[in-house]
Amino acid sequence: MNINIVVATEKHYQYAEEICETIYQSAIVRGTGIAKRTPEYIQKKMDQRQAILALDDSKFAGFCYIEKWQNGEFVVHSGLIVHPDYRGVGLAKKIKHFIFDYTRKKFPEAKIFGITTGLAVMKINSELGYKPVPFSELTDDPEFWNGCRTCTNFNILQSKQNKMCLCTGMLFDPKDKKKEMDNTQKNSFDKKVITQLNKIKEVLHIKSKKDFDNSQIKTI
Ligand SMILES: CC(C)(COP(=O)(O)OP(=O)(O)OC[C@H]1O[C@@H](n2cnc3c(N)ncnc32)[C@H](O)[C@@H]1OP(=O)(O)O)[C@@H](O)C(=O)NCCC(=O)NCCS
Repeated sequence: MNINIVVATEKHYQYAEEICETIYQSAIVRGTGIAKRTPEYIQKKMDQRQAILALDDSKFAGFCYIEKWQNGEFVVHSGLIVHPDYRGVGLAKKIKHFIFDYTRKKFPEAKIFGITTGLAVMKINSELGYKPVPFSELTDDPEFWNGCRTCTNFNILQSKQNKMCLCTGMLFDPKDKKKEMDNTQKNSFDKKVITQLNKIKEVLHIKSKKDFDNSQIKTI
């Protein structure tokens, strides 16, 4: 196995059909709803450099793509698929880490989210720092939610005015990451100050103990 993960381009148009078919067949096997994608749409994502492809030499092994919403305030990672021949060896994790790093570089201010029913994806997202959130924290662009119309659960989503469904929403907010880093820095600063204070206290304590001992000696 010689798997390479790349940003897909026009050179990879030939894989679009197989990607769609694999996504569709996997949804049938899982018995879950899925938003259907067309090969044309996948090719458009390749044009935009918003598609990530895993290839075993020239064989299709995995895929995921990016969509931007609300003028780039939100970015979603969708259509994650690993070909059945390559499952269970950590490929989804590699693809998700790749697309996450790529997105962070390309759109550093964007909130990154996903909606999923899959435990594997939830695990990977958590590892990357995503938090489970209600749909109200995700994009409210109706066009995004319309993408779910080919999912078998779409009527549930509609009946809840796009506020909830069977998928779990997960969000990575770069501002949370910054807060976390600030806290870590603050904590390490606090630790330094405390260590320094303890040293000073220790010296003062030894000094005052010596003074006390000396004064005791003098009075005897
Ligand atoms: C879900 C899918 C992408 C996982 O791909 P994969 O390459 O086999 O996953 P990985 O080997 O990278 O596993 C990542 C983690 O998820 C776990 N995992 C993988 N498949 C799982 C499953 N079906 N159920 C529960 N956990 C699973 C792994 O044990 C691993 O956890 P760990 O880090 O604790 O070891 C793949 O099975 C697939 O393409 N399924 C069909 C499409 C799909 O469900 N896409 C997601 C739609 S949101």
